[in-house]
Amino acid sequence: MNFKQQLIDRFDDKTAVIGIIGLGYVGLPLMLRYVEAGYKVIGVDTDKDKVKKLNHGICEIKHISSEKIASAIEQKLFEASSDYADCTKADALIICVPTPLNKYREPDLSFVLDTMDNIAPHMKQGQILALESTTYPGTTEEELLPRIEKTGLKVGVDTFLVYSPEREDPANPKYDTRTIPKVCGGDTESCQQVGKALYSVAIDNIVAVSSTKTAEMTKLLENIHRAVNIGLVNEMKVVADRMGIDIHEVISAASTKPFGFTPYYPGPGLGGHCIPIDPFYLTWKAREYGLHTRFIELAGEINAYMPCFVIEKITDALNVRGKALSECTVLVLGIAYKKNVDDMRESPSVIMMEKLEEKGAVIAYSDPHVPVFPKMREHHFELSSIPITPETLKEYDCVILATDHDAFDFEMISQHSKLLIDTRGKYHRPALNIVKA
Ligand SMILES: NC(=O)c1ccc[n+]([C@@H]2O[C@H](COP(=O)([O-])OP(=O)(O)OC[C@H]3O[C@@H](n4cnc5c(N)ncnc54)[C@H](O)[C@@H]3O)[C@@H](O)[C@H]2O)c1
Repeated sequence: MNFKQQLIDRFDDKTAVIGIIGLGYVGLPLMLRYVEAGYKVIGVDTDKDKVKKLNHGICEIKHISSEKIASAIEQKLFEASSDYADCTKADALIICVPTPLNKYREPDLSFVLDTMDNIAPHMKQGQILALESTTYPGTTEEELLPRIEKTGLKVGVDTFLVYSPEREDPANPKYDTRTIPKVCGGDTESCQQVGKALYSVAIDNIVAVSSTKTAEMTKLLENIHRAVNIGLVNEMKVVADRMGIDIHEVISAASTKPFGFTPYYPGPGLGGHCIPIDPFYLTWKAREYGLHTRFIELAGEINAYMPCFVIEKITDALNVRGKALSECTVLVLGIAYKKNVDDMRESPSVIMMEKLEEKGAVIAYSDPHVPVFPKMREHHFELSSIPITPETLKEYDCVILATDHDAFDFEMISQHSKLLIDTRGKYHRPALNIVKA
């Protein structure tokens, strides 16, 4: 039996069933794309409550359309399950589970390995398994391949294995799952061919690379490139601030250079599930080769210092006004890690809120995308978003613009805040009540 050709044919004639394991920020848009392309998708997730809600057409991630999920269910093109046995029904198994760091800031592959161990007994000949979770080079080859082959299946012959990183940019209207080119590396040449067949039915441009390791490293380079450049511009911000120069004016002027300069923007720190975390996957793996990733460490150090820099600026600004932070009320505007999304993971706003509270300040927040402070593994606030009005703004000793959501009325905020800390370079004209940080 030519399993490779059989599988490629099933993708071509749309009879293939797609299995997606991990129905979050990455898995759900991918599911919707396959449904849109006319494929049946089975989703598997360990979160039973999420599975139940999805099967009722309810999605708790704001920028992912519940209507589209409900319609996929209605058309019988999507079904969520928490039973790994359903993996047997799929021709492709795409893993999109979290890859965080543990408390020692080392890779925590437990979600990926747990998924693999649970899928393996349900794998059969003629399937392809694709890992999409961000990870260090070697994960697919060293961790997934042996677990599949232990079941008796032979990768590259009767089953296929690829790594294809996700490049989602939530809330970016310019690109979507279909139009973002997708890098894909196979364990063997046959794996690569099947991987290409799997993804090319849903995505316009597939960038084939020579191995799973190359694909893993590509994803890390992309994210390290961002982390390091953001670290650089954050360092430049601190220096410019000390020199009395507006870093945003500098970036805007430098951006007029038609070649050789790419603008990056400073902020109150790095957030999200990717940029603050992924680089350290490489740091950890590089140690096995006796290497230190100095750029990554340095950028991490500078970026992690940014919330402290903002708090130093707040403390100084309050001092000048004869106030102590410990006796002040502070309103944080925007607690999602970037504008126009509801994702709170690794948000520097939350770090600032904790530090301010430690120093005795009374904290409140306003975020149109986060009505109630969610349950988080390491952070806890019993708070709800307060509406911003001229009256509420005036009640606070200090207002921090932490995330510049488009929904904010920036003019009204600057007019009615006693002291406004601008961490995003939103205000260009100097004003007595505005301090850039
Ligand atoms: N969010 C992004 O924008 C983004 C972008 C590129 C890459 N990534 C990478 O994609 C991966 C997934 O990230 P995400 O943001 O979608 O995470 P997420 O937390 O939004 O979703 C992960 C889902 O996996 C489920 N899950 C956890 N363990 C499981 C298991 N053993 N079996 C089945 N389901 C399980 C969780 O319940 C959750 O629903 C990560 O490696 C991340 O680094 C994320």
